[in-house]
Amino acid sequence: MPLVERLKFRFTKNYDAVPDVIAAAPGRVEFIGNHTDYNNGPVIGAAIDRYVFVALRRIEESVFRFSSGDSSYVAVEDPTQKLKGKRSWINYPLGVYDSLIRRGLKPSGGFELVVDSDVPMGAGLSSSAALELAVCQALCTVYGLGLSREEMALASREAENEFVGMPCGILDQGVSAMGTSGSLVYIDCRDMRFSTIPLGKNYSIWIFNTHKKHSLVESMYSERHNECFQAVDGLNGVGLRIQYLADISPADFQSAKSRLLGTLSNRAEHIVSEIERVNRVKHLLEGGRVSEAGQLLFESHASSRDLFENSVEELDYLVEILKSLPNVIGARLTGGGFGGAVMALTEDAFSPDYAESVASAYRGRFGQPPEVIQCRLSDGVRVVERIESTDTIEPALG
Ligand code: GLA
Repeated sequence: MPLVERLKFRFTKNYDAVPDVIAAAPGRVEFIGNHTDYNNGPVIGAAIDRYVFVALRRIEESVFRFSSGDSSYVAVEDPTQKLKGKRSWINYPLGVYDSLIRRGLKPSGGFELVVDSDVPMGAGLSSSAALELAVCQALCTVYGLGLSREEMALASREAENEFVGMPCGILDQGVSAMGTSGSLVYIDCRDMRFSTIPLGKNYSIWIFNTHKKHSLVESMYSERHNECFQAVDGLNGVGLRIQYLADISPADFQSAKSRLLGTLSNRAEHIVSEIERVNRVKHLLEGGRVSEAGQLLFESHASSRDLFENSVEELDYLVEILKSLPNVIGARLTGGGFGGAVMALTEDAFSPDYAESVASAYRGRFGQPPEVIQCRLSDGVRVVERIESTDTIEPALG
């Protein structure tokens, strides 16, 4: 059954009612700009043709019901309380509800929600931001709150920072909101400006998902975040006046870096050099010089691996194999790191057979094949269907 039909069917089965709206938001790849976003630098990503779908209905009763996949629902009476354990995915929709209240949504009654998705989990493709954006769109639609896509991205990021407690930047929510078919999304995080860069027809983006995820990935992300701001403090301690690592030029950083402790110096060097790489990649892509950008993608991976130390053996191996193959322009880890996926930019001539040879080499080394996905660059968050209350949905399956 197609995903949207399955979602409607589950909604009716769980709540014995028809949803008011179905919204969808895409997962994303980080094309280049590893951990640059919360350092106020630029980043380039792309929305992909994998989505989180949300079906939602407003109800008068003051209760909030959540169900995911084919599981039965969880009822929440106090939407300000964070949940733990298996139910912690519910904090994303609760966080969005909370940040929409701050933006004018008048809370009244409750809602019922079902979520389903074909974004691979734990692959660094940002299924959680897609969930936030899909919920945000659904809530804005049923409450008549006219937020722009940019505002939805900011509200969803706030949900993640304030409610969920992850100090992420704007990359995931920004791309899931602002994605455009056939294009990459460039975000200047300093002033939250979003623009698009067409990729051109002759190129593909592939994902190789290792299914590996460090058990402490959230706290390691926070640790890297803290280290970047400790590096800012360290640089200010030697006479600079900066607020973010994006505020220092590569030349000034080279003169000042010996004053930082080794680890902090490495973390900062990664960010400062990565910002430069993002700018160079943008320039090359805009000039149609796509193949010249490949070397910078490989350099980005090496910098994450050696200086930011957020890669793992499995990702390094995939990048090395990809580097040796024809028609691969560049490859690098995508997303927060510490597991997850590698993305490769290829010429169209890179066929599924080549991808299969990467998967089988990986299986030979690590025992399990990676999940391989060829991505289409897609549009961002949207309303899939608005359902009038007189419509009925027959629960076709038992
Ligand atoms: C995660 C975060 C993003 C970004 C990337 C790393 O995906 O959610 O904000 O920091 O990691 O670039």
